[in-house]
Amino acid sequence: MLAKRLYSTITSAKPVDGFIGAIGNTPLLRLKTLSQQTQCEILAKAEFMNPGGSVKDRAAYYVVKKAEESGQLKPGSGGTVVEGTAGNTGIGLAHVCRAKGYKCVIYMPNTQSQEKIDLLKMLGADVRPVPAVPYDNPDNYNHQAKRYAESLGENAVWTDQFDNWKANRQAHIETTGPEIWSQTEGKVDGFTCATGTGGTFAGVTRYLKEKSGGKVKAFIADPPGSVLYSYFKSGGKLTERQGSSITEGIGQGRITENLKPDVDLVDDALFIKDEDTIAMLYRLLDEEGLYIGASSALNVVAANEMAKILGPGHTIVTIISDGAYRYQSRLFSRKWLESKGLVDAIPKHLHKYIVLP
Ligand SMILES: Cc1ncc(COP(=O)(O)O)c(C=O)c1O
Repeated sequence: MLAKRLYSTITSAKPVDGFIGAIGNTPLLRLKTLSQQTQCEILAKAEFMNPGGSVKDRAAYYVVKKAEESGQLKPGSGGTVVEGTAGNTGIGLAHVCRAKGYKCVIYMPNTQSQEKIDLLKMLGADVRPVPAVPYDNPDNYNHQAKRYAESLGENAVWTDQFDNWKANRQAHIETTGPEIWSQTEGKVDGFTCATGTGGTFAGVTRYLKEKSGGKVKAFIADPPGSVLYSYFKSGGKLTERQGSSITEGIGQGRITENLKPDVDLVDDALFIKDEDTIAMLYRLLDEEGLYIGASSALNVVAANEMAKILGPGHTIVTIISDGAYRYQSRLFSRKWLESKGLVDAIPKHLHKYIVLP
């Protein structure tokens, strides 16, 4: 029966237009153990199945598409895309730029691993590590990216993922949100995920709220070191960052333009400790065979919490943003876990997965 269903799914998939055509339409995975335990449907969007390996492929495509539509980039004439990013957006952009024939220039803090720099170079990007200085310093990597794009003049764009809500957030209003609605046949009660730029959370929340007439609840999830939990819990006061987190790509010190239009749609905020994130990361590997990054494990902890708050019978959706492949030298290293004080947070029977020294 299962083989038949798999076969019919495969045969119905039509050819798509290369890398760009393969972005989106990711499966929505039912997490069986957590669903059984909470008596809810806990569903996770498998964004690691995007062709560049993360949810950021969607935003990368949309920021380039918007630059083409507004005339900043001229398709087919070898323009330049510039972004400040140390992570998945750079990877997504590097792929999209190759697929569309643009140059890709990535500014990043010089504290990033050689692996990340090498990967972007392998994807054809011009990588420019610059001194790691705070955002209010004009030499911060984001400002340098903006200045460089401006210096190129015509046929160049700084894609500005943090505040380019008309493209980044829009990608999720037009694709991720509708996919979730259709995959659940409109039977969704809650959505939760953490934010980096805020594009995913804001876009999906906006779409689901509008489609359901406000019925779908939206909880923002936040790691240590981010201000959003306290912002929403204190009714809009931005407080200092407290501590730091092992998660990458999420956590925010301000309300980005992506998030601004949807701040009033946030029903509640969840603070997720690294201890809970790492335990979930190992659990999902053991129980579901899912090999996912820490921001995704945090999202699943948040979905589980949301299920407990809403009670049995509800359907909760979250995002698996990327796989563990980009982080495995840390997440599965005993030494690294010890340095973060996280070994004891992982249940004893799952220590067999800590395979690196
Ligand atoms: C691994 C990972 N998870 C989550 C996010 C957050 O997504 P968004 O920028 O849409 O808020 C990012 C963003 O770069 C990411 O790289």
